[in-house]
Amino acid sequence: MAGAGGFGRETADALRAQYPDSDVFAGFLDDGPPRPRLADQVLGPIDAIHDLTALRLVVSVGNPRDYFARARIVERLALPEHRYATVVHPFAQVSQTSKVGSGSVLLAGAVLTADALVGRHVAVMPHVVVTHDVVVGDYATLASGVRLGGGTQIGEGAYLGSGALIREGVRIGAWAQIGMGAVVLRDVPDGEVWVGNPAHRLRDVRRPAGLTPEAALR
Ligand SMILES: CC(C)(COP(=O)(O)OP(=O)(O)OC[C@H]1O[C@@H](n2cnc3c(N)ncnc32)[C@H](O)[C@@H]1OP(=O)(O)O)[C@@H](O)C(=O)NCCC(=O)NCCS
Repeated sequence: MAGAGGFGRETADALRAQYPDSDVFAGFLDDGPPRPRLADQVLGPIDAIHDLTALRLVVSVGNPRDYFARARIVERLALPEHRYATVVHPFAQVSQTSKVGSGSVLLAGAVLTADALVGRHVAVMPHVVVTHDVVVGDYATLASGVRLGGGTQIGEGAYLGSGALIREGVRIGAWAQIGMGAVVLRDVPDGEVWVGNPAHRLRDVRRPAGLTPEAALR
């Protein structure tokens, strides 16, 4: 796992549950300050993955205040796709007609109904419901309890806060952010933050320092 924060530890637990009879979780790679509680599980900085050629990686960062980080790390590492694992908790349900891209994570209780397409490096938190014909772009984050109506399109890198409800057929723009509990009834443009019921524009997204608009809103 690249990232030993909350989402990293959740992903590690999901991986252990997915493969209960094998020692599949090798450890964390983390660029942050030392984490004494996890000292025996942190193998080194994230770039060490280039030397750990036998391992596959999941970039498990998902902070709502910097939801660009997953894309930033993946682009920096420039690993071939086969170096990424996909983690699906055994209590997640993925229909036979749905697809999940490499590097993505589905935590417990996530449900994908018919013909849903979830891209690469997507974080799907507990009890998210992705219904028929939904398309979720690469690097998107669906926080716990998000519900996506049929045929919704979630743009690349979008962050949907906990409990957000998205009406059927609505498009959420690339790198947009939807607040917790929002009820989204119409399309949200790229790069805007929307909140409330019915959801309305709050502001433009704030990109972390050092990240160009082009990198965040390709
Ligand atoms: C939408 C969000 C990104 C806004 O963050 P922010 O820019 O720091 O917003 P602030 O807290 O400064 O609030 C700004 C205004 O928006 C309102 N607001 C913020 N979040 C809101 C929400 N989810 N729903 C309704 N209104 C909200 C505030 O009440 C405030 O209104 P006011 O100016 O009238 O007082 C954030 O509140 C949010 O919902 N993040 C998602 C978090 C999440 O899902 N975490 C779960 C995984 S850890």
